[in-house]
Amino acid sequence: MGAKIIDGKEIADQIRKDLTRRIAKLRSEGVTPGLTVILVGDDPASSSYVRMKGKACKELGIYSHTLLKPPDYSEGSLLGLIEKLNDDPMIHGILVQMPVPEHIDVSKIVRAIDPDKDVDAFHPVNVGKMLIGESDGFLPATPHGIQELLSRSGHKVAGKHVVIVGRSNIVGKPLAAILMQKNQAADATVTVCHSRTENLKDITLQADVLVSAIGKVNFIKADMVKEGAVVVDVGSNRIDDPTAPRGYRFVGDVDFAAVKEKASAITPVPGGVGPMTIIMLMQNTVQAAEKALERQGRPKV
Ligand code: GUN
Repeated sequence: MGAKIIDGKEIADQIRKDLTRRIAKLRSEGVTPGLTVILVGDDPASSSYVRMKGKACKELGIYSHTLLKPPDYSEGSLLGLIEKLNDDPMIHGILVQMPVPEHIDVSKIVRAIDPDKDVDAFHPVNVGKMLIGESDGFLPATPHGIQELLSRSGHKVAGKHVVIVGRSNIVGKPLAAILMQKNQAADATVTVCHSRTENLKDITLQADVLVSAIGKVNFIKADMVKEGAVVVDVGSNRIDDPTAPRGYRFVGDVDFAAVKEKASAITPVPGGVGPMTIIMLMQNTVQAAEKALERQGRPKV
């Protein structure tokens, strides 16, 4: 079977159109959504992600401000900066690009961001709301993007067995929380596998929807995939390739050529989950601005 390709760019474009309309409405009410992205250090992959986020904001008409800080920027300075941004009415979203250097305590940084401006949805308040299914918080961009990819490409997960390989706080754990909720876009039976899982293949073979977020090239082989499964590849692994213009390219976790012969649908890398992550961050920034406007209009009690 030749799997159908789930086109993340096309689905991200559908969402982009909706956001363009929402941003125009906000602007007509005098509000331009604003996002500040902070990068501490000079990690090349992080620098590239931060540039992509800035470009996406510009294209949509979101005000964006990228702050590049040196690798030895102190934790105290970063906390001070976040405090200022929390109080800045022009800024609706604050994002600190991860990973941060080791001398900075990630949990302190994440907790310092006002939950109403936490467009990454890493603050425990937003994580908690996601887990209990309260809809007034933010959902993290990559797992929320995966949910949208699946539903907008016509792959309902309700009642299906979704197997997630990888238990990170950014993808695996929140995706499990999102897809197990009691609602029409979820209602899945979810299994999360990780580096200590025994008999991994026995479990992945049970998946109606298999999601790999493990960060290892060619980790998911065809013999780990059930015939007709839907496969979502979250991996973005840089490999050397002298024939590529920059001498390297990005590949996923899945042995794409072999697995696409067995799956019924599959996301490519690049062009699958990647474009969704960026657009869902934009969506969170727009949501933050809409909520801020709503709060402004509310009478003080
Ligand atoms: N690094 C890798 N993914 C992410 C993300 O979604 N948000 C932030 N802030 N950093 C990341």
